[in-house]
Amino acid sequence: MNKRETWKTKVGLILAAAGNAVGLGNILRFPSKVALYGGGAFMLPYFIALFLMGLPLMIIEWVIGRYAGRYGHGSMTGILGLFFKHASWARILGSVGVAIPVCICMYYIYIESWTLGFAFLSVLQKLPQPVISTDAHEAAKPYIDFFRNYTSPSATAYLFLILTLCINWFILQRGVVKGIEITAKIGMPLLILFGIFLSFLCLSAKNWTGFEGLKFIYNLNFSGITDPKIWVEAAGQIFFTLSLGMGAIATYASYVRQREDIVKAGFITAGINEFVEVIIGASIVIPAAFAMFSAIAIPELAKEGTFRIGFMTMPAIFMSFPVGWFISFVWFSLLFLAALTSSLALIQPLVALFEDEMKWSHTKAVTVSMILITVGAHFSAFIPHFIDELDFWSGCVFLLLFGLVEIVVFVWIFGINNFYNELTTYTKIRLPKAFVYTVAFVSPLFIAFVVYFWVIKELKNTLFTTDPYKIFARVFILLILVLLGFIAVKSRKIILKDVRYLRVIKE
Ligand code: TRP
Repeated sequence: MNKRETWKTKVGLILAAAGNAVGLGNILRFPSKVALYGGGAFMLPYFIALFLMGLPLMIIEWVIGRYAGRYGHGSMTGILGLFFKHASWARILGSVGVAIPVCICMYYIYIESWTLGFAFLSVLQKLPQPVISTDAHEAAKPYIDFFRNYTSPSATAYLFLILTLCINWFILQRGVVKGIEITAKIGMPLLILFGIFLSFLCLSAKNWTGFEGLKFIYNLNFSGITDPKIWVEAAGQIFFTLSLGMGAIATYASYVRQREDIVKAGFITAGINEFVEVIIGASIVIPAAFAMFSAIAIPELAKEGTFRIGFMTMPAIFMSFPVGWFISFVWFSLLFLAALTSSLALIQPLVALFEDEMKWSHTKAVTVSMILITVGAHFSAFIPHFIDELDFWSGCVFLLLFGLVEIVVFVWIFGINNFYNELTTYTKIRLPKAFVYTVAFVSPLFIAFVVYFWVIKELKNTLFTTDPYKIFARVFILLILVLLGFIAVKSRKIILKDVRYLRVIKE
């Protein structure tokens, strides 16, 4: 068996996993969703989804990742195969869990490149000068125009896309320990430091008017409790922010040493992610908007688009501060660090697939993965609606469905007792068996409930389209699925030849 890498230090492992989860989702997506769905009304379903679904799935992915790493598998193709003697159907189903991060990465990395580009443009003082106005739209207009121009895409945008692709390529080529782990060890502390600095700045803006923004978020109330849309969005945010339902956490967990305390690692990963989301993420965009515009402007701003808001209104706000260019630089650097540690995690499942299942060399695996991502990133840059279409299917629909598959296979089919044994070995935190029952029954019910409402209410409207760009994006997603399914079947023979890649059924 090829020797697989393992994380070098405990701190490195935790920071890499936290870097995987902490991303644009925490700092941009979360505040947009909270604002769009009424602040405190969103937060209640959010916390319920976190406890009933997020934490259980986080632990499942860690348990399964360590288990699969023992047999030399790190991608969902191999992991799902492992449970069904590498039957083709299981490997094909598993490859959905590789396709999801690949598709997400294809647009995520393009957005990541904007953050790098804007960080540079801030330093060069190329961002527009602020317009003093109480009207949010008027104040943000030069920035909105600037952003639209930039992403048209401009030559600068293209240049930074290529640069971002090269940075990811370079780090992945260095491998799990020398690439990903070191990046996380540098990036994560910086990110938290910058985050706290910006939180403080935004909360205290205009004589602590910013603080009102935080109150808006934490004004917990029951007004959204009967709205299925809010539940779907809250559950979707939990999946997205914790990187769950796509095997990305399991891939990282497959590189732990066999005696690693994965339960602890799982809780710490979720803890850091939630800290950066509900404390830092909640204290920047919304408080800043509260301070600079008014409470009425908040839902308006949120409609600008989930990820895009941070590129339009935030520079508008920061540029009106003294040394605005510097604060804007800190802001975009923060976003870049958050995005970089996540994009690496989005590509690694594909790299693991090539290395573990196809037995390719590291260089070949990374090169082919990056070529694929590069092609997709170009479509994201040049084809209208490509980003949103990929975000919708891979960042929402498939996630929920694959989350269900994970529970069914790893808890039901693996067996509650087997799962419980795995969960309780080499850990100081002995979770009660009731936890496994929650994972086995409450979490899937919760997801099924959310999916049900979503399918009933939304699917029909969204499925139908005549927009050729959208159809192109969907065909593209299908092609990725077919390609990965093909690889899953083709590599099966390689795996079956060597008993070490097969699970010993009775252990
Ligand atoms: N969690 C990341 C964020 O908050 C985004 C993400 C979703 C992700 N799925 C992932 C990152 C898989 C890495 C791997 O931005």
